[in-house]
Amino acid sequence: MLKIGVLASGRGSNFQAIINAVKTGYLKARVEVLITDNSAAYAIKRADDNGIAGLVMRPADYASPDTYYEAVADELVKRGVGLVVLAGFMRVVRKPLIDLFPMSIMNIHPALLPSFPGLHAQRQAISYGVKISGCTVHFVDEGMDTGPVIIQAAVPVYCDDTEESLSERILEYEHRIFPYAIRLFAEGRLEVKGRVVRIQGQVKDKDVVVNPPLAKGD
Ligand code: GAR
Repeated sequence: MLKIGVLASGRGSNFQAIINAVKTGYLKARVEVLITDNSAAYAIKRADDNGIAGLVMRPADYASPDTYYEAVADELVKRGVGLVVLAGFMRVVRKPLIDLFPMSIMNIHPALLPSFPGLHAQRQAISYGVKISGCTVHFVDEGMDTGPVIIQAAVPVYCDDTEESLSERILEYEHRIFPYAIRLFAEGRLEVKGRVVRIQGQVKDKDVVVNPPLAKGD
C-alpha cells in the first residue's frame, strides 16, 4: 500500500481531508508521517489525534536549506514513503528532496496555475480582477508552483469577495481534488510526459472539475 508523507506549515485542513479520505477507504493509502516546519502548526494536533507520527523540523536548525531538505528526505525514505504531499507547506522545496522523489511530490495551490503562483494567491486573484479562480494540484519541480498540473477546479470570483471569502470557496474544492489526485497516483493512473500529466481512463467532467457542485464521494 502507498505510504504518504505530508509536509504542512499550519492549519492542516488539507491534511485532514487526506486523513478523512484514508479513513473512509476512499483513498487506499497510509499516512506515515507529518513533517512540519512550524512547532505551532495545528496540523500537529491532527497527526496526534489520528495516531500519525508528527515531526517538527525547522530550517533554522540546519546549516543550509539543502541540508534541511536532506534531513527531511532521510526521514521520508526511512519510513518507506512513496508520495510526498505538500499540504499548505509554505516553502519552496529544493533539489535534495526533489531528486529522491521525482514526480512523486504533490502540491496544492489556491489558484489556477500558471496564474498567481507564490504567496497570497487568492489576494492576487482579487487584485488582478479575474472572474474565475480555483485551485491546482501539481507535481513539484524546482520552480515556485511550476510543476506539471494534475487536476484543477474552478470557482467564480464575485465583486464583493474578500481574500477570506474567496479562500473559503476555493478551500472546499481543495479538499475534494487533493484526495482525488492522490488516489489517482495510488492507483497508478498518472502518466507524466514532459510537463503534461495524462490521467489514464479519464472520466470527463470528473477529472476536470468546473464549479458546479460535485456529487458526494467524488
Ligand atoms: C491552502 O489554501 C493551500 O492551498 C495553501 O495554503 C492553504 C493551507 O491550508 N497553499 C499555498 O498557498 C502554497 N503556496 P491548510 O493548512 O488548511 O491545508
